[in-house]
Amino acid sequence: MKSINLSKKSIAIVGCGFVADYYLKTISLHPELDLVGVMDRNSDRATRFAKYHSLPHVYSSLDELLGDPKIDIVLNLTNPNSHYSISKVCLEAGKHIYSEKPLAMEMSQAEELVNLAEQRGLYLSSAPCSLLSETAQTVWKALRENKIGKVRLVYAEMDDGLVHQMRYKTWLSESGIPWPYKDEFEVGCTLEHAGYYVTWLTAFFGPAETVTAFSSCLIPDKQTDVSLDVNAPDFSVACIKFASGVVARLTCSIVAPHDHSLRIIGDGGVLGIHDSWYYGAPVYIRRSLNIGRKRLEGIWKQNYPLVKKSPRFGYRGAQQMDFCRGVAEMASAIVQDRPCRLSARFSLHNNEIVLAIQNAQETGCPYKMTSSFEPIEPMTWAQ
Ligand SMILES: NC(=O)c1ccc[n+]([C@@H]2O[C@H](COP(=O)([O-])OP(=O)(O)OC[C@H]3O[C@@H](n4cnc5c(N)ncnc54)[C@H](O)[C@@H]3O)[C@@H](O)[C@H]2O)c1
Repeated sequence: MKSINLSKKSIAIVGCGFVADYYLKTISLHPELDLVGVMDRNSDRATRFAKYHSLPHVYSSLDELLGDPKIDIVLNLTNPNSHYSISKVCLEAGKHIYSEKPLAMEMSQAEELVNLAEQRGLYLSSAPCSLLSETAQTVWKALRENKIGKVRLVYAEMDDGLVHQMRYKTWLSESGIPWPYKDEFEVGCTLEHAGYYVTWLTAFFGPAETVTAFSSCLIPDKQTDVSLDVNAPDFSVACIKFASGVVARLTCSIVAPHDHSLRIIGDGGVLGIHDSWYYGAPVYIRRSLNIGRKRLEGIWKQNYPLVKKSPRFGYRGAQQMDFCRGVAEMASAIVQDRPCRLSARFSLHNNEIVLAIQNAQETGCPYKMTSSFEPIEPMTWAQ
């Protein structure tokens, strides 16, 4: 009789697109994950993907995949608009789900998925998993060690520059899949990227109490060769107030120049990093000095050593992330019969924050100004 390795979990991928290649680039770092097959509604894609990565099996349909008793965890790497429906049928079929972000496009859908997972005793997690990175874990440790005193404020930026002016049609994944620009523009940078910091902030500072946000589509005509059906926000800014008292300002855009920095401001200094998309990004602490009557802001910069070195991920790209680390965390939680660090309730809370920011333009209560003034002339010497 063939022995079953109980420390391994069998996984299958639904959605063999741009991001799936990145998962394949780091799966070898996690020998506890056994990829048994893939599926895509575009069967040519699935076949090409499986051939490129020498994968054992291509499922001809979702039903066939769900009927395979070997599969423990399904990786839902479909487009955001398919996340809910795919995750739902997988949970109904008794599979654990690791979903790409967002968990769902509507809060009611996300709640339904979490309730379903809980009723069935299944694990459900949503990407991103960068909270498990060496950098995020180091920042968290510095906070626990009170390195910057009481934290008051956080500035987190997820700006990516004028993406629609970039040569995005040349962006191909390793196996040659084009970056899905229509979908990316229609979903918008907030739903795509806010989670990279929201997940850190909720882990570090606990649940959020309120989200006061503004979101807007500043460039409705992105001059693509396809017409966009949705003018998703390409800029958003939110102030998130945590029950613990910390306030975070989070900005997301594909308008302002690239800036993925994080600054956590405490009474005793600023704890920061330059980019959350690098699992091994250095962590620093900046302290201010009072000299005479002057305060020299942040002049004293110290590196705070990473808790451990980040491995090399063997790919080139705008990021260096171990996409499979969250799946591996789920697999080991199942094996050890313990809660997953990226739990369903944690994912739901983060999804709620991100949706609140994304939808702020419809649901927010912007203060309507009542005063105005006539245009001012520039100085004559500047005209
Ligand atoms: N593009 C990136 O750089 C990037 C990075 C990190 C995370 N993500 C996330 O990964 C997910 C996928 O993005 P992508 O860039 O790979 O998109 P993509 O369009 O390249 O690939 C998605 C794939 O899912 C398939 N699919 C969609 N609905 C399906 C369904 N109902 N059944 C079966 N297959 C279905 C599509 O045919 C496609 O091949 C998104 O949630 C996105 O937010 C993308």
